Parts: sequence; C-alpha cells; structure tokens
Amino acid sequence: MGYLLVEGGHPLSGRVPVEGAKNAALPASVASLLTDEPVVLHRVPQLRDVSTILLTIGDLGKRVIRNGADLLIRGEGTLSGEANPYSVRKMRASFLVLGPLLARLGRAVVPLPGGCSLGEGPVDLHLRGLEALGARVRAEKGAVTAEADGLRGGRIELPFPSVGATEQVLMAASLAEGETEIVNGSIEPEVVDLVRLLRKMGSEIESNGRTYRVAGRAALHGAEHTLIPDRMEAGTLLLAGAISGGEVTVEGVVPDHLRAFLDVVSATGLRVEEGDGELTVLPSGRPSPVSVETAPYPGFPTDLHPPLAAYLSIGTGTSRLAETIFEHRFTYVDALRAMGGRIAVSGRVGSITGVKGLRGSSLSAPDIRAGAAIVLAGLVAEGETKIGGIEQIDRGYASIEEKLKRLGARIERQND
Ligand code: EPZ
Repeated sequence: MGYLLVEGGHPLSGRVPVEGAKNAALPASVASLLTDEPVVLHRVPQLRDVSTILLTIGDLGKRVIRNGADLLIRGEGTLSGEANPYSVRKMRASFLVLGPLLARLGRAVVPLPGGCSLGEGPVDLHLRGLEALGARVRAEKGAVTAEADGLRGGRIELPFPSVGATEQVLMAASLAEGETEIVNGSIEPEVVDLVRLLRKMGSEIESNGRTYRVAGRAALHGAEHTLIPDRMEAGTLLLAGAISGGEVTVEGVVPDHLRAFLDVVSATGLRVEEGDGELTVLPSGRPSPVSVETAPYPGFPTDLHPPLAAYLSIGTGTSRLAETIFEHRFTYVDALRAMGGRIAVSGRVGSITGVKGLRGSSLSAPDIRAGAAIVLAGLVAEGETKIGGIEQIDRGYASIEEKLKRLGARIERQND
C-alpha cells in the first residue's frame, strides 16, 4: 500500500484549494437511493471512503458515473434491499443505506457497521429513530433487518445529537406518510447540506435549532447539488501551515463552519486572516497553551482534535484536550510520543506539554485524523518521518502529499 516520507523543518507557504466535504458526500450519495431519478453531485472529493459508498450503492442497483469531481447517480433496474457486507463493514457511514432502502422497499437488511479505532460505534439511535417511524427492527447474526408496511411520521428525541442517526431519520422520514419531528438533532454543516439536497429532491423539511420537522412525500425526484467544502481538510491544512511556521491560505472554505476551531487556534496566539471564502495563517511562533473540549457542532469538532494535538505538542505550556464524542480518540498519542511529544491521557482527557522540537520516526496511521496528526508532526520534526497505513489517510484526505508539496513541503509517497 506504500507509505509517506516527510522531511521536517521546511516552512510551508502558498495557497491551496479545499475539496468538497467527505462527510457531506457520503450521506448525499446515499440519499440518491430515495429516488430512481438522476441525482447529480458536484465537488465530490476523490477519496477512498467515497469510492466505498459508491460501491455500496452500486451493489444496491444504482448506476454511478463519475467525471472528476462530478457524479451522476441514476436508477438502473430494481433496487436491492440487501447491502453488501464487505463495503458496510469497511465504513460505518454505509449503514445509512438502511433508512432509504426501508422507506423505498418496506424491507432492508444491512450488516452492523462494527467498531472502528474510535470506539464501539453503536447504532442504537439509528434503530430507535426508524422504530419511531413504525419500523420493526431486529439485529441478528451481525446484521439488521428492518421491515415496515409503509413508514409513517413519528417523533424521535435523540439523547445525543448523533450525526448519523439524524441523517438516517431525515432520509427515511422524507418518504414516510405524515409528519416526523426530530428533537435534539445534529446541526453539523454536513447534515444541513443533506437537508438542502433532500429539499431539492422534493422533501419538505423545516428546521429550528436542533428540531427538524419533515413532511413525508409519496415520492422524491432527482436533483443537482454542489457539496459544501471540507472543513476538516481546511482545518488540517491550516494547522500544517501553523506547525511549520509558514504562511498558508486555504481557498474555497466557509469560515463560519470553522468558528470554534478559529477561536481555539487564535487563543493559542496563531494569527489567522479571514477573507472571502478563504483563511490564511501567518507565522506566529510556538502556540500558547489552551484548554479545549470537543463537542457537537457548533462546538470544537472531534475530527480536528488529533491535528490540533500535533500543533499543541510543540507549544510553550501544557494544554488540556477533553474528548466528549469518541471513547478512543487518543489513537495519535503513541505516535507523537515516539516523536518526542509529552502527552498524558487520563480517561478522555489529554494533557499536552509542549516541547521545543520533535524528531522523525517510523510510524503507522491508526485512523484518518490520527494519520493527519502524524503528517503534521512530521512537517516540523527533525529528520525524516516514515508513515505507513496511509490507506487510512487516503480515506479522508485527497492526495494530501500533493497539496502539501504545492506548499513547499518535502513529502513523498513511496511504494513498499
Ligand atoms: C460522523 O460520524 C462523522 N462521520 C465523523 O467523522 C465525526 O467524527 C462524527 O460524526 C462526529 O462529528 C461521517 O459523517 C461519515 P455520531 P457518526 O453518530 O455519524 C455515539 C471522520 O474522521 N452514537 O454523531 O458516526 C457514537 O458511538 C469521521 O471523518 C451512539 O451511541 O457520528 C459516538 O460516540 C470519524 N449511538 C457518538 O455518538 C448511535 O446510534 C457520535 O456519533 C449513534 C452514535
């Protein structure tokens, strides 16, 4: 599968565009299952996870035609109600096909996603949401079977604003008879982007804060939609500029989507300039310590926790990073310690005592965001850092080495 080689110590500079959001592309692709008519998506990132979801919906009977960042998804023959275990087990987001298939066919069988490095990954809230729409759901032999004689509107109050559960119910409710209310739903920009697409497909969705009201329709139609930019990629590239002591501009972003992140990095003393659809970090010296807690949007995103930790590891004091979303988000710690980082973890709280410098090492990416943290640490480390497991990084970052190279990084992708 290859590895990345990073030579540290070269300040980055320049401008780089941001792709469409992975976490908008996945549910949007799944939403195409709600109609036989063509769905056209633009700004679709070239990522492993996107290939996986397209494989999943292709196996279910969709015809997928891709031309760079443009995607045409159309119905081709009959829709299957049984998802391919291979792709669903590879990626948790594939579990989102359950609601749309159930709504279209009255019966769907989807393997349980299983855990990932971040945690057990339960889907109880997804299932409770579908049950609130009248579905009969049972989990056996590692798969969920959901059945319904036509979904009907209901009410689900989520104990936690789960991104996936909100998306699952929004899609299923769009074809349910009557009105559905989702209380304490997720308002992540990617969820709001899915709502935009569903509305274009004919779904009637009102939202007020974390409450969504969906008036179901008998059928939805095709639509064309441009995805929002990837705020996680943008945050990661800005931190790459910051950790290298350089000046980097990310283009094609929505600064408001990164407000909590911008507040935190500014509190470390990082100078950030905001322009129209762009953000620029300026050389700002070593970061000052901060205390951060991840939270559902508009709080600090858990996906930028690992890259931020890499940045804070070369800070001037001791920072506190509390993780409230995933039980195993500290997968990056061993790697940063191997590079000379000083990080202590107790439960879900990490304390990062900044060091003057890191040193290169030979490491492996345990998951998408931890992988990004290791790449960032490699940009500032003394000597060379070799990073294996890059298929994890490729799941969430499109050709990360090409983008960093454009900014002057000494980074190469090598084959084994
Ligand atoms: C989405 O995951 C993102 N993935 C994740 O990004 C992101 O970290 C996460 O939201 C939080 O922002 C996609 O959008 C494809 P959740 P999702 O449902 O939908 C618990 C990345 O790197 N939970 O909000 O899985 C769950 O265990 C990925 O791009 C239940 O207990 O997130 C977790 O602890 C990683 N029961 C928490 O809630 C449920 O039924 C957050 O899950 C559902 C979730």
